[in-house]
Amino acid sequence: MVPSFFAIVAILACAFGFVEANPHRKSCVIKSGQSKEIDDAPAILHAFKECGQHGRVLFEPQTYYVNSVMNVSWLKDVDIEIHGTLEWSTDIMYWLNNSMEVGYQNQSTAFIIGGDNVRINGFGTGTFNGNGDDWYKWIRQQKNTSNYPGRPHALTLSHLTNSAIHGLRFLRSQMWTMSVIHSHNVVLDSIFVNNTGNSAQSSNTDGADTIYSSHIVFNNWTVYNGDDSISLKANSTDITISNCKLSNGLGIAIGSIGQYKDQFETIERVSINNIDYENTLHAFYVKTWTDDQNGYPPNGGGGGLGCTSIWRRSDESEGNGTSRGRLCSFAMHAIFWGPGVGNCTNSQFQIKNVAIKNLSGTTQSTRVASLQCSAVAPCTNITIADVDLHLANSTEANSYLCGNVMSPAGFMCTGDVCVGGSATGEC
Ligand SMILES: *[C@@H]1O[C@H](CO)[C@@H](O)[C@H](O)[C@H]1NC(C)=O
Ligand SMILES: *[C@@H]1O[C@H](CO)[C@@H](O)[C@H](O)[C@H]1NC(C)=O
Ligand SMILES: *[C@@H]1O[C@H](CO)[C@@H](O)[C@H](O)[C@H]1NC(C)=O
Ligand SMILES: *[C@@H]1O[C@H](CO)[C@@H](O)[C@H](O)[C@H]1NC(C)=O
Ligand SMILES: *[C@@H]1O[C@H](CO)[C@@H](O)[C@H](O)[C@H]1NC(C)=O
Ligand SMILES: *[C@@H]1O[C@H](CO)[C@@H](O)[C@H](O)[C@H]1NC(C)=O
Ligand SMILES: *[C@@H]1O[C@H](CO)[C@@H](O)[C@H](O)[C@H]1NC(C)=O
Ligand SMILES: *[C@@H]1O[C@H](CO)[C@@H](O)[C@H](O)[C@H]1NC(C)=O
Ligand SMILES: *[C@@H]1O[C@H](CO)[C@@H](O)[C@H](O)[C@H]1NC(C)=O
Ligand SMILES: *[C@@H]1O[C@H](CO)[C@@H](O)[C@H](O)[C@H]1NC(C)=O
Ligand SMILES: *[C@@H]1O[C@H](CO)[C@@H](O)[C@H](O)[C@H]1NC(C)=O
Ligand SMILES: *[C@@H]1O[C@H](CO)[C@@H](O)[C@H](O)[C@H]1NC(C)=O
Repeated sequence: MVPSFFAIVAILACAFGFVEANPHRKSCVIKSGQSKEIDDAPAILHAFKECGQHGRVLFEPQTYYVNSVMNVSWLKDVDIEIHGTLEWSTDIMYWLNNSMEVGYQNQSTAFIIGGDNVRINGFGTGTFNGNGDDWYKWIRQQKNTSNYPGRPHALTLSHLTNSAIHGLRFLRSQMWTMSVIHSHNVVLDSIFVNNTGNSAQSSNTDGADTIYSSHIVFNNWTVYNGDDSISLKANSTDITISNCKLSNGLGIAIGSIGQYKDQFETIERVSINNIDYENTLHAFYVKTWTDDQNGYPPNGGGGGLGCTSIWRRSDESEGNGTSRGRLCSFAMHAIFWGPGVGNCTNSQFQIKNVAIKNLSGTTQSTRVASLQCSAVAPCTNITIADVDLHLANSTEANSYLCGNVMSPAGFMCTGDVCVGGSATGEC
């Protein structure tokens, strides 16, 4: 079930085999207004309307100023070539009032792309600049620094199928960089994300989030941020993450899941291979909500912040950016969540069929893993093997804290996990 590295390469080759633009297609070259005062969104939308089906849309090597929302959901068989930079305006009140519904967690977005057979190429230079510094400063003055209603994602791929995005750069996204929702068969290759704030520290700037999506490939991503590097949320299936470098964020997150009361959600068939982690809090972790409803999304939800089961892959490194860990082979075949009732260990959420292998590098904690599983639906078929993690002073990291883990394979539980909500897995 786990696609091999070679299988992934084959998928990529297929996806990009036809990326060469056909010169005979109808082409629209977009002209920039060359001024922050001139909103280029109408010109961009016009080009997509003219050439967004069976055509070609070209952004020249110049800066385009985007001062208003764009919903481009009707694309079909199109080549989109981005040689320049799209720079979003920082009129926070405008965006709070006008950003568009994503369709999950009351989240919203500045730019929607949807359709079938869409090929976007940024050639390694095409850039989406979210101008997030203003957002990062502003959000720190708010009571809700997390999911502030109306704070937009930089880009949402919605109802996008059989498509590929290649060689695009994202700088300082307004919030999450890319949400992928109701999308299937999409390859996202050679994407560079840097959400490091210039003045204020960024917050809630996930690299990418998948929701209600399947057969999504993340290959050769480089992500600098402070939140989830890549996060797989409700109903993400057949997801591949390979050959990535993740820095300063929280690592790869499964969840949060279980935020919606009485909704069944699943994350299955996830394959993660050859990842370099640099100064991330975890390599891999699972976060779920308990079922005690406490407010509504985006900030409240199905359980109030808590943990029915947190799977924490501890791979923290030095914090000075010089050390790294590596997760080279990992397969997750099923995570199920059903509505549970109550506290951190009695959820019906179950984590099962997880294999983590070949993890090496420097870490700040001697705990390799903390597994706080449900007493009602214990973790089963969990393998952690070929781990070579050590502290900066060469002390081996060899403790595995467990709660309700059935027959662990490749490792032995060395102690009890601490019980209770925890963002880090530490007590
Ligand atoms: C936001 O929208 C409301 C209702 O349409 C309007 O009254 C208000 O002036 C808008 N605010 C801004 C800053 O655009
Ligand atoms: C985007 O446009 C499509 C129609 O083209 C529409 O169905 C959809 O509701 C729009 N999305 C938002 C969030 O406005
Ligand atoms: C959005 O938030 C409101 C409360 O502010 C809640 O009633 C509603 O269910 C939420 N919608 C979604 C889709 O989460
Ligand atoms: C990976 O992506 C980076 C951009 O982040 C690019 O410079 C590099 O060429 C890509 N590598 C491959 C093998 O495509
Ligand atoms: C990321 O952005 C920050 C802030 O501008 C900058 O200091 C840093 O060099 C960038 N990192 C990379 C790898 O480009
Ligand atoms: C999520 O997947 C489950 C299982 O396939 C399905 O029952 C449920 O309707 C899906 N939820 C949504 C919102 O798509
Ligand atoms: C902040 O979040 C709380 C719930 O956590 C909600 O009641 C409140 O309305 C939110 N405030 C804003 C400004 O979004
Ligand atoms: C960074 O970490 C390395 C490796 O542990 C260490 O040798 C070095 O002194 C650290 N540098 C700083 C500035 O902390
Ligand atoms: C939480 O649930 C578990 C499993 O039902 C139970 O053993 C434990 O006592 C509960 N803890 C609290 C604090 O209620
Ligand atoms: C255990 O999980 C692995 C994936 O890690 C899977 O290949 C295997 O089929 C699972 N075994 C059972 C008995 O479900
Ligand atoms: C284990 O990881 C190393 C890199 O850290 C890699 O060279 C090696 O091929 C991996 N082995 C397996 C079996 O994946
Ligand atoms: C290595 O560092 C850890 C954590 O600082 C410390 O507890 C341990 O005693 C050190 N071991 C040696 C051999 O210095």
